[in-house]
Amino acid sequence: MYEQVSHSLLNDILLNLDPKIKQQNIRYFYTRLGANFYAIHSLFETLYGHRDDFKEQAQCLVETMAKRYIERDNDLKHTDLEREKDHNWFLSQKWVGMALYPDGFAHNLPGLKSKLHYFQELGVNMVHIMPMLQCPQGESDGGYAVSDFKHIDERIGSMEELAELNTELKKREILLVLDVVVNHTSNEHEWAQKARAGDAKYQAYYYLFNNREVPDMFEETMPEIFPETAPGNFTWDEDAQHWAMTVFNEYQWDLNYSNPAVFIEMLDIILFWSNQGADIVRLDAVAFLWKKIGSTCQNEREAHLLLQLFKDCCQVVAPGVLFIAEAIVAPVEIIKYFGEDAINAKECEIAYNATLMALLWDAIATKNAKLLYQGIKSLPDKLERATWLNYVRCHDDIGLGFDDNDIVAVNYQPYEHRKFILDYYSGAYGDSDARGCLFGHNPKTGDARISGSLGSLVGLETALELNDEVKIDISIKRILLLHSLILSFGGIPLLYYGDEVGTLNDPSYLEDEGKADDSRWMHRPRIDWDKAERRYQNGTVEYRIFTALKKMIAVRKEIGSFADFNNRRLIQIENPHLLVFSRFDIQHHASHVWVVVNFDARPQYLDLSILEIHGTHASAHLKDLYSGDSPALFNQQLVIPPYHFYWLTNSGL
Ligand code: GLC
Repeated sequence: MYEQVSHSLLNDILLNLDPKIKQQNIRYFYTRLGANFYAIHSLFETLYGHRDDFKEQAQCLVETMAKRYIERDNDLKHTDLEREKDHNWFLSQKWVGMALYPDGFAHNLPGLKSKLHYFQELGVNMVHIMPMLQCPQGESDGGYAVSDFKHIDERIGSMEELAELNTELKKREILLVLDVVVNHTSNEHEWAQKARAGDAKYQAYYYLFNNREVPDMFEETMPEIFPETAPGNFTWDEDAQHWAMTVFNEYQWDLNYSNPAVFIEMLDIILFWSNQGADIVRLDAVAFLWKKIGSTCQNEREAHLLLQLFKDCCQVVAPGVLFIAEAIVAPVEIIKYFGEDAINAKECEIAYNATLMALLWDAIATKNAKLLYQGIKSLPDKLERATWLNYVRCHDDIGLGFDDNDIVAVNYQPYEHRKFILDYYSGAYGDSDARGCLFGHNPKTGDARISGSLGSLVGLETALELNDEVKIDISIKRILLLHSLILSFGGIPLLYYGDEVGTLNDPSYLEDEGKADDSRWMHRPRIDWDKAERRYQNGTVEYRIFTALKKMIAVRKEIGSFADFNNRRLIQIENPHLLVFSRFDIQHHASHVWVVVNFDARPQYLDLSILEIHGTHASAHLKDLYSGDSPALFNQQLVIPPYHFYWLTNSGL
C-alpha cells in the first residue's frame, strides 16, 4: 500500500543507507521492502513511534534486514522464490515432523547426521532440532536459557557440522526446524553480563528494578510458570543490585521489547538462523513477549504486533521461512497467533495445537470423546494459509488447557474433572496404569500439569513390568490411536523422538543436580539404539509400534484429503466413546475419508446412516485406508473394536 508518511520515511532511509549496502544489487530485497514497508512502518510506529530515536531505529532496522539479505546464500534465495510461487506448500499432507534433542537422539550433530536414514525409514521429513545453542553448564532449562544466540554448544557440535547436516537434510528433502528463544536470555548472556556491570545500554534490554515497587505491582496479576522451582516473577541479582524479571526460571532474564534495540537484535538472530538454512523457525514462548502492569503479561496485543513485525521483516529477507508459534495458552488465544482478520497468516504460519493435545489425553483417561468433541467443536476455524502442529507428546509437560465452558458443556465440574485427569496420570487414581507425575503443582491455585513419556502415560511401563500381554496390547493400541488422530486431523503431525519405539520414562534425571527438580526430564530420553534395532524383530513392542506408524505415515501421504484446507467436518453422534470426523478433498467433494476412533475398552457401534447425511454416502463398501480391509458391519452398524481407529472411504482413492 502507498502511504505518504511511510513512503517518505523509506526514501530517507534508502538515501542514508550504509554505502556498502548501496553498492549491492539487491533487487528482490527492494521490491519486497517496498511491498511490506507500509505494514512494517505502521507496526514499528505503533510500538516505538513515541521515542526520540525512532528514525535512527527505523534506519537500523532496514540496514539489519539488508545485511542479512546480502549474506543469504543463493540456494536459499532460490528456495524463497519457489515457495513464493507455491505459497501453500506447507499445507500438504506430505509433511510429517519429529522433534528431538540432538544429544538425546544421537549424542551430537554428527551423530544425528549418521541417523538420517532413520527418518526416511519412518517417513519423517521435517526435523525439529531442539535448543543446541550455548547455554550454562548446569541448569539451562533444557537449553532454553541461551547464553549466546549465535554459537552452538560445543557439547553438541559446531556451525560447520550443522551446515554439513543441513546439506544432507536438503538432499533428502527433509525440512530443518530450529528454535529461537525470543522471550528471554540466560543470565550468563553477554547482554546480561554487561547489564550487571552497569552498562545502561544493556540494562535497557531487560526489566531491571532497584526496588520492589514495580515488581510488586506486576506480581499482583502475573501467574507463576514454575511455581515449585521458581516462584515469583522477579529474582534479586546480587551483582546487578537489581531485581530482574524472570518469568520462567531464576536464571532466565526476560527481554524488554519496549526497547526497539531488543526487537532489532532478535530479528537479526531469527534472520541469522534463517540464513543457516532453517526452513522453519520455532519462536519460543511467544505469548509472553509483552509485559504490562495489571495484566497476566501473556497474550497482550503488543505481543501480536511484535510477531507481525517479525513476520513482515522476515518476508522481506527470507520469505520462504515459516514461523511456528509456541503459545501454550487458552484455545481462543492460541488461534490468534496466526493473526486475526486475514486469510494469510500475519504472524506465524504454524502453531502448536496444544488444545487438541490436551483433549486427546482427556479422552484416553475418560475412555470417551465427549470433551474432545466439544473442544474441537469450539475451536474456531483457522486462517486459510496457516496450519496446526498436531502432537501427542513433546519435551514439555501436558497442561490441561481446555476451556472451562467446554468442560461444563459436557456436564463435568472443571475443578473435579481436572483433578481426576491429574490423578489418573500421576497414579493417584486406582484404576489407572499410567506412570506420570505432577509438574508445576501450585498449592495456591491447585493447578498442576503432567510429566511422563507417551509409553509410560498410556500404561506400557506398567504392562511390561507385569508382563501382561493384554495390557501391552492395549497400550500399543492407544499409542497408535493417538497418532492416527494427529496424522489425520489436518495440520502437520509432530512425532516426539523415542515414541516411535515405545520409549518409557527415564528416571536417570534424578541423579543430575541440574535436572532433578524438573520432572520434564523423565520424558526427554537418550535413545537406546539397541532397543530401536528391535523394530526389525517381528512381535516386539518396538516392531509393533514402529511398523504401524511407518505404514500410517505412508498412507497419510497418499490421502489428498488429509492436506489442511479447513476441510474437516466434525460429526455429531450419540455414542460418547467415539470421535468421528470427515476429511474431504476441496476440489473433489466426493473423496471423503471418515476418521472413526474408539477410545473405549469395549467394541462400539456406529450407525452408518450418520455418515450418509453429511454430503456423501457411506455404503456397505467401506474400506479402511490404513489396513486395506473392509471393516466389520453388523445390522447396518459399523463395529469399531476397542482402542481402534479407522480411516474409511468408499471412493476407491
Ligand atoms: C517453552 C519451552 C519450554 C521452556 C519455556 C521457557 O515453553 O518449550 O521447554 O521451559 O519455553 O523457555
